[in-house]
Amino acid sequence: MLQVQLTKMEWPSFSMSLLVSVLLSFWWATLGQTHEGFLRCLLLHSDDNVAPISNAIYTQNNSSFASVLDFPYGNLRFSTPTTPKPLVIVKPTHVSHIQATVNCSRKHGLQVRVRSGGHDYEGLSYVAQDSFVVIDLIDLRSINVDVGSKTAWIQAGATIGELYYRIAEKSTTLAFPAGVCPTVGVGGHFSGGGYGMLMRKFGIAADHIIDAHLVDVDGRILDRKSMGEDLFWAIRGGGGASFGVVVAWKVELVSVPPVVTVFTINKVLEENATKLVHRWQYAAPKSPEDLFLRIFFTDVNSTQEGKRTIQASFVSMFLGRTDQLVKLMQENFPELRLVKEDCHEMNWIESIIYFAEIPNSSPLDALLDRNLYPETFFKAKSDYVKEPIPETALEGLWQRFYEEKPGTVELIFSPYGGKMDEIPESETPFPHRAGNLYKIYYEVLWEEEDNLAPQKHLDWMRRLYSYMAPYVSKSPREAYVNYRDLDLGTNNKGNYTSYRQASKWGVRYFKHNFNRLVRVKTMVDPHNFFRNEQSIPPLVRE
Ligand code: FDA
Repeated sequence: MLQVQLTKMEWPSFSMSLLVSVLLSFWWATLGQTHEGFLRCLLLHSDDNVAPISNAIYTQNNSSFASVLDFPYGNLRFSTPTTPKPLVIVKPTHVSHIQATVNCSRKHGLQVRVRSGGHDYEGLSYVAQDSFVVIDLIDLRSINVDVGSKTAWIQAGATIGELYYRIAEKSTTLAFPAGVCPTVGVGGHFSGGGYGMLMRKFGIAADHIIDAHLVDVDGRILDRKSMGEDLFWAIRGGGGASFGVVVAWKVELVSVPPVVTVFTINKVLEENATKLVHRWQYAAPKSPEDLFLRIFFTDVNSTQEGKRTIQASFVSMFLGRTDQLVKLMQENFPELRLVKEDCHEMNWIESIIYFAEIPNSSPLDALLDRNLYPETFFKAKSDYVKEPIPETALEGLWQRFYEEKPGTVELIFSPYGGKMDEIPESETPFPHRAGNLYKIYYEVLWEEEDNLAPQKHLDWMRRLYSYMAPYVSKSPREAYVNYRDLDLGTNNKGNYTSYRQASKWGVRYFKHNFNRLVRVKTMVDPHNFFRNEQSIPPLVRE
């Protein structure tokens, strides 16, 4: 122990620092014990005849720890030196490793974060404020497509690109209605909904899940039958992270024609883009469900020297051939002046490559590449639109782009209607169905690494969000859980969560389904083991 002679003046500050260092060493010792105990527990639970767990464990001392944690396409906002790191990463190669990690984390009071594709917008799958363990499912990603029954079993660590690739290996007329970016993981994506270019025809990914394997809070492996319909309902859109660890999904595939047609038409403001966008709000959500016509907005250089303008890119997928599409567009949206030279016919998997903006000279294998896109810092938000936005408001929206650096803002308008109008709001926890014209996705990217940059861009995004308030859904202002946004509110640090507090974002993501999610949570995880900043809280007396 330290032996120091102290003057009276020195005493108060020394006593404070001594106290802090004693507390810190106590904390480290406890943490060390927890940590050691946790590792011992894992080894004890390992069945070496089936699959030894030792190769799946990465502690901070392991030389591969940083590279395993630094997952491709995480948001760089959550990969800084000061971002809290997990005590241990477990990369299961067998479901028993997930069971062991859940059991041992519970026993040793560690939080668990589950990562499949690592695309969480707020980094919740690999960052936590309390001592935590990451279960990284990247090595559990086998996919079994059965053309006969038009179904597939997909392990949670697979990406949607891998799923599309495996379907295309076996059929050119089977498909799956999930997202556009191939690097997104099915674990998070399906459990939060998952939409893409087939949404108006078939609904979203969660609508097509017919079974699942899940490790629950007691470390049991459940399937649809043994978990019961309430829990099975909750994990199809309510976010898996609140309820357990999804190991695999069984989905029904959908049939698409052998030839589909795609086009992209770019219009800048000088070409009447605002009027076209305004008109699109009436046409796109009402068009036949075989057509999905969305708009991407970016700012580009204007033809006028030194000026910027807004470019609206009308990007479309049609489940049919060019002639039909041109006719349909002439009837529904003649102002866009689509001609057959704008159209490209291809099969469904080629359309996946087209929309993912992978050069079509690339081999199909690009769909398997988790490093497909460069990593950036970004912040995103979402909105739902129920009434057409007036032209003047759209013009105000364009002005916001010019407050940010050129080329760093992207907005996407995705039309609803079609099948989305037919599925009842309570069918799955994903409630955004009839009554929506379209969804807005807002994103700002940046590359600056200085400490001030995040705040500057977050402030800009928040101002944009306030600007849009009068034109989007209200009471609640709805949001898409897969575009997770911690600005909407967070649970407290630690284990205490409040129903009232969680309602703030819960009803925006899930509307009235939030209450059922809370009931399911209370039933299956009453002590709130599976938790994060926006997890569903169990009911406790407040
Ligand atoms: P990640 O592994 O980070 O998980 C996300 C959340 O789910 C975390 O809370 C995590 O703990 C939990 N989770 C993950 N695996 C789990 C499991 N096996 N069991 C239980 N919980 C689990 N969305 C969309 O609908 N359509 C689109 O086209 C796109 N496109 C897109 C492009 C890009 C570049 C990004 C970054 C994101 C999208 N998204 C999207 C949003 C995407 O659907 C969303 O971020 C998903 O939650 C990502 O799932 P991952 O498994 O990749 O993320």
